[in-house]
Amino acid sequence: MFQFVWSLAAYVLLSCQPIIAQNAFPGAVGFGAIATGGNGGTTYMVTNLDDGGPGSFRDAVSESNRNIVFDVGGYILLKSAVSLSSDITINGQTAPGDGIGIMGGEVSASGQSNIIIRNLRMRQGTLDSDTGKSAFNMGSASTVILDHCSVAYGQWDSVDAVGAINITVSNSIIAFPIGQQFGAHVETGPSTFYGNLWVSAHNRQPLSKDDTQYVNNVVYNYQAGYTSGNTGGNFSHDIINNYFIAGPSTTSPSDGYYQMDSEQSVYAAGNYLDSNKDGALNGAAANVVGDSTVLSSPWESSSESLAKYSASDAVTAVLNSAGASPRDEVDTFAVSAAKSFGTSGTIYESQADTGLSNGGYGTLTSTSSKERR
Ligand SMILES: *[C@@H]1O[C@H](CO)[C@@H](O)[C@H](O)[C@H]1NC(C)=O
Ligand SMILES: *[C@@H]1O[C@H](CO)[C@@H](O)[C@H](O)[C@H]1NC(C)=O
Repeated sequence: MFQFVWSLAAYVLLSCQPIIAQNAFPGAVGFGAIATGGNGGTTYMVTNLDDGGPGSFRDAVSESNRNIVFDVGGYILLKSAVSLSSDITINGQTAPGDGIGIMGGEVSASGQSNIIIRNLRMRQGTLDSDTGKSAFNMGSASTVILDHCSVAYGQWDSVDAVGAINITVSNSIIAFPIGQQFGAHVETGPSTFYGNLWVSAHNRQPLSKDDTQYVNNVVYNYQAGYTSGNTGGNFSHDIINNYFIAGPSTTSPSDGYYQMDSEQSVYAAGNYLDSNKDGALNGAAANVVGDSTVLSSPWESSSESLAKYSASDAVTAVLNSAGASPRDEVDTFAVSAAKSFGTSGTIYESQADTGLSNGGYGTLTSTSSKERR
């Protein structure tokens, strides 16, 4: 034991690289992985699908230091945006049956800090009359990790992270934004996007006006993919082992990288672009990122080790396991579009246009674990 501690100390002292701590959960990666959320706090059990009141999700997230679990599965229909408190963990994977989803309103971590969200479906859609809101908003928040979440039908953005510091979005499905048809918008940062599946968006996958790690992502049926928006800002981007796959809505496959000006410093390696829409995964290397300044090594030392998969292995892994578990109707639809490798996929204006059940939101059967037992 003494020897182990001694060698660990020596390792920490001798390795000059910063170590990104992983507190959120085993396997957590990136800048948001230091979140501790409400781990070790009070356990709050969500027992109903109501918009508010005792046992509701809104009540659960109304106070800090909570570790939130679910005794109920199905969709929670919001009447207004729900605001998260700081220092909470949302464990969507504890929900029985088809799992837990939020529809009709924004989930907001705006201005809060230290939040862990796993296996939660956030699908705003047109049931929210506020077109200026997003599916998930972490504007001006810090230390947030979203993992194995499913974000769809966002109107302003799927994920809005303007002014957000130390964030991770990992192993998630970010699909079918409506309204502006945008994926994620990050300013301030730093941010990590790891192992996500992005399906059928106009742009911002993400819009990265910050220092970013972008590793093992799969972007399907885009009009524009990774962008810095020609912002004039001076940011660093590690873009490693991602796969951009053109689909029916992709007018210019080379816009997988979009508006990357010379003020952006980019380390790009192992990325592929499949531009031919021929129904098979058969892309070519794509590591020239607009007019950006080329970095010969990553700006962030942990980025290489984060790149667990090659781009093509990332496609297999991401299509198998990204998104909230268990995989539901909307995510199955998103994954099947991506699996067509170019032949199927639409950028939508409304969830209803998908033709999926439940007005396009897909069905999450309402279950309580008591009924199930
Ligand atoms: C972000 O993370 C870094 C590295 O752990 C830390 O030094 C910094 O204080 C964090 N910033 C905020 C606002 O939490
Ligand atoms: C941006 O970064 C480049 C390369 O490091 C540097 O030469 C330039 O002065 C920076 N520009 C601004 C506006 O900070």
